[in-house]
Amino acid sequence: EKGTYPHYMLKEMDEQPAVVRKIIQAYENENGDLAIDQDILDAISNADRLYIIAAGTSYHAGLLGKQYFEKLAGIPVEVHISSEFGYNMPLLSEKPLFIFITQSGETADSRQVLVKIKEQGYPALTITNVPGSTLSREADYTLLLHAGPEIAVASTKAYVAQLAVLAVAAYVKGKSEGKNIDFDLKTELAIAANGIQSMIDLKDELEQIAEDYLKIARNAFFIGRNADFYVSLEGALKLKEISYIQAEGFAGGELKHGTIALIEDGTPVFALVTQEQVALNIRGNVKEVVARGANACIISMEGLEEEGDRLIIPKVHPILTPLVSVIPLQLISYYAALHRRCDVDKPRNLAKSVTVE
Ligand code: M6R
Repeated sequence: EKGTYPHYMLKEMDEQPAVVRKIIQAYENENGDLAIDQDILDAISNADRLYIIAAGTSYHAGLLGKQYFEKLAGIPVEVHISSEFGYNMPLLSEKPLFIFITQSGETADSRQVLVKIKEQGYPALTITNVPGSTLSREADYTLLLHAGPEIAVASTKAYVAQLAVLAVAAYVKGKSEGKNIDFDLKTELAIAANGIQSMIDLKDELEQIAEDYLKIARNAFFIGRNADFYVSLEGALKLKEISYIQAEGFAGGELKHGTIALIEDGTPVFALVTQEQVALNIRGNVKEVVARGANACIISMEGLEEEGDRLIIPKVHPILTPLVSVIPLQLISYYAALHRRCDVDKPRNLAKSVTVE
């Protein structure tokens, strides 16, 4: 029930700090350490490559999941859009493990891949919010998101939960192999939960940003590098699906290869600056678009901020910045949709779970 909330989406965004805290608890063993079931750990250990299959927002989470597994556990990962995978299957490694990321566990595009790879005898793990869902039942293993029901068509808390669970799985795997991991993920997730809360507490400011940048916008761009690029894709999808403003996420360095031609006087460009090693490069891209008239909204992380940045997100561990940086993008999209009197929870042409291929 949405109770006193005007929209499920707002309620679900507000729940995000609690969802991260719930995941910490749900994946804690009796010693208080993060853990996942031994059979899932074994399945990952037996694989020489992970194939992440997902659609929409879950695909965007998968792109970050690849970074987690490669950086923390040293396992090569490919990420594929489920609707493309069936007829465009890459050459598989000798011992693949398929990981399906799906909030609903019912997405037909993802299920057809699962059916196909099961026919070929490959193992599958589903990461889902819905226990007993089709993809959970038909896979060999399941990891649950523990996000509680997500009703709004635009996925918010499930995305954050997907990132947290992917990080936990990759971290536990890396630790079990004695990889050199110099931080405590439990502590860092708790810090991220607080960071998420501090963004949610800035609703008035985020509504103002939506007003300042998107009130009359026909289109908008989201740019970032590294992890910020993947969050940009998600920010653009959120804005498109609920406000109907045409929006695209781009890798900062890719702009000059074509897209920058679209920048006009007043074009809104949201730039994320949370990754230290590319902070200067992305600021260079911001200068390029501003020189062509863009109305740039820089969202940077504490420690990397500069004068003129519109929003500063609190410092969190570099691999967890997406959990926090996505929050302002979700809320800005929400307010942009409200300002345009769009049906936030049930955007036109969309269903919560897409059960046709
Ligand atoms: O239930 P799933 O995670 O499999 O759904 C995948 C997409 O349909 C879903 O993420 C969609 O992109 C959302 N409406 C985005 O907000």
